[in-house]
Amino acid sequence: MLDIKIVKTTAPKAKPADESRLGFGKIFTDHMFLMDYTPDQGWHDPRVVPYAPFQMDPACVVLHYAQELFEGMKAYRSVTDNTIQLFRPECNGERMQNSSERMCIPLIPVEDYVQAVKALVEVDKDWVPHSDGASLYIRPFVFATDVGMGVHASHNYTFCIICAPSGAYYAEGIDPVRIYVEDEYIRAAPGLTGFTKCGGNYAASIKAGAEAEKQGFAQVLWLDGVEKKYVEEVGSMNIMFKIAGKIYTAACTGTVLPGVTRRSCIELLKDWGYEVVEGKLAIADVMKAGHDGTLEEVFGTGTAAVVSPVKELDWKGDKVFIGGGKIGPVTQKLYDTMTGMQWGKLPDNKGWIVPVCAG
Ligand code: COI
Repeated sequence: MLDIKIVKTTAPKAKPADESRLGFGKIFTDHMFLMDYTPDQGWHDPRVVPYAPFQMDPACVVLHYAQELFEGMKAYRSVTDNTIQLFRPECNGERMQNSSERMCIPLIPVEDYVQAVKALVEVDKDWVPHSDGASLYIRPFVFATDVGMGVHASHNYTFCIICAPSGAYYAEGIDPVRIYVEDEYIRAAPGLTGFTKCGGNYAASIKAGAEAEKQGFAQVLWLDGVEKKYVEEVGSMNIMFKIAGKIYTAACTGTVLPGVTRRSCIELLKDWGYEVVEGKLAIADVMKAGHDGTLEEVFGTGTAAVVSPVKELDWKGDKVFIGGGKIGPVTQKLYDTMTGMQWGKLPDNKGWIVPVCAG
């Protein structure tokens, strides 16, 4: 159990007047959580303090060798009783431990991670949006703070959490998006860091994303890094395909991010009687299904993206259009069920909702 010190701001910022124009991750709340790691004290000095810039030495390890990682979560305001609540925060805490292990970053106990998130959200609870579809996006991250140019694990670290009241991740909102199947660049390969949420994975993806955006695509679909044959994930979400009644998605075997929304959707789909195949799915088979009419739905899953329908896939000049450009029934049911539980419109039969405080 952390003994968290709380120092409140004396100069609170104005909250956004129009919640329909929040965008994603553009404005930040009044406070942030900080905790430091040193070899002699371990993780220590947990505190919620006024949001402020960091002062950093130009030789700080993270700026050169990217030894860092992050998480993505949301806090929701229940429409039923105004409670501020989280969705499966312990899953993010566990994933951060797995990422930390790979990145040689000292582990933070899951219960401390969840306590830290709750403490910050409670202090900034008035920033949790009130309108439908908007939430408080939470960004925990940890980074190396040693000063020096040697390439080795840092000895010192900072854990920080910031929050941004946000709307939909895509400009399209829940409207189906166009996805470009990337056949030149890769995101991950066995033995690398694909399963971690480290910034380097995202840095390496930016060029492909920018080129796809120029052609009007929302994001790219990554293929496996060895044969460029099997579907893996999309820039900011996992991806699922409904083909002839069954749901297919890449297995989490090291190159794919183990999404919390991904695993929740898989559980719901299985509860509803769908067969979910986690394994290798060749892009050629997806395109074939698109042409022979058996590709019924394609959707992404992610904390930021929630459940996001895909209406078009383009691979090496071949195009398939899915569901006549409309959101499919399974995608819609998943979206309604996930957001229903998160915003307290539906009962939480799964025990996934964790209350933080009264709103
Ligand atoms: C999330 O869904 O929380 C993410 O971290 C994706 C992203 C915006 C990079």
